[in-house]
Amino acid sequence: MTPEIARAAELLRAGELVAFPTETVYGIGADAANPAAVAKIFAAKGRPQDHPLIVHLADATQLDAWARDIPDAARKLAAAFWPGPLTLILKRQPGVIDAITGGQDTVGLRVPDHPLALELLRAFGNGLAAPSANRFGRISPTTARHVRDELGDAVAMVLDGGPCQVGIESTILDLSGPAHDGSAILRPGMIGVDAIAAVIGQAPAAARGDSPRVSGSLESHYAPRTPLELVSSDGLVFAVRNAIVKRERTAFLASMAQPIHHELISWRLAPTEPEPFARALYASLRELDALGCARIVVQAPPATPGWLPVLDRLRRAAS
Ligand code: TXA
Ligand code: MG
Repeated sequence: MTPEIARAAELLRAGELVAFPTETVYGIGADAANPAAVAKIFAAKGRPQDHPLIVHLADATQLDAWARDIPDAARKLAAAFWPGPLTLILKRQPGVIDAITGGQDTVGLRVPDHPLALELLRAFGNGLAAPSANRFGRISPTTARHVRDELGDAVAMVLDGGPCQVGIESTILDLSGPAHDGSAILRPGMIGVDAIAAVIGQAPAAARGDSPRVSGSLESHYAPRTPLELVSSDGLVFAVRNAIVKRERTAFLASMAQPIHHELISWRLAPTEPEPFARALYASLRELDALGCARIVVQAPPATPGWLPVLDRLRRAAS
């Protein structure tokens, strides 16, 4: 164990907050069994108290300590995708504190796929509550630098594990209902419907976008401060002309090459595949936001299943 990890685990045991990298986004971690420590998360994020938190585990053997009546499908998914960007919502063990569950009878669990996160979880030895390490409603951090910019001294320590490889938050799958209800995606992520169906032999219900218990489903989530607009590739040239005519400094994120060069236009080329697009998305939005333009215009990716999680984040950023 490195001295850094030992120190982080010690801080967590003392009820302090430690931000750490995961493969999706950086999390702000606290001892999930310590109500006072969990309360510090809500204070640091400015997050409403009734929003439940995901508990991060070192491996699937810890499942039974946190959840009960675990369906076969959940065990299969854990075996197939953990460590990885999938959160399972299961019935909670009675001892799981209300600050974690938001007072519900369920708990969200996942094993993150990042070496530093796993080392930390093993050193700590129990579950860590860890929401994304951003202020409530803002863009999730994908580097240690973003975390420091967002939270400053509100955390005792930030573990730096480099840029996150997935880049957007985990898929959240609800398996807490009666067995015949099957499963339902509460938040889309890079583990999609088909991958889940291939493991459990039944497709989950798609995200309905109206689950009030998932803060990621609030309309105004993941938002930069600059107004953001999603446009089709056809609308892109029009948006450029419009910005020039109105004399509005405008930042673009598009997979198409810049059609017209002008001092008022900042153009950032976006990847053409969902995985690299997702990996770069939040850092790109932060950079474009920092330019202080009148608006950010993003070329909408195709509405195909592979792009769904990215499109979901873009739509929320735009609303
Ligand atoms: O990728 C991720 O999941 C990241 C990294 C740090 O692991 N974490 C993350 O946490 O995105 P957070 O708190 O920003 O979002 C977790 C979402 C929230 O929208 C919360 O409402 C939902 O998970 N959630 C947690 N427990 C739940 C439960 N028991 N029932 C329904 N939704 C739950
Ligand atoms: Mg979040």
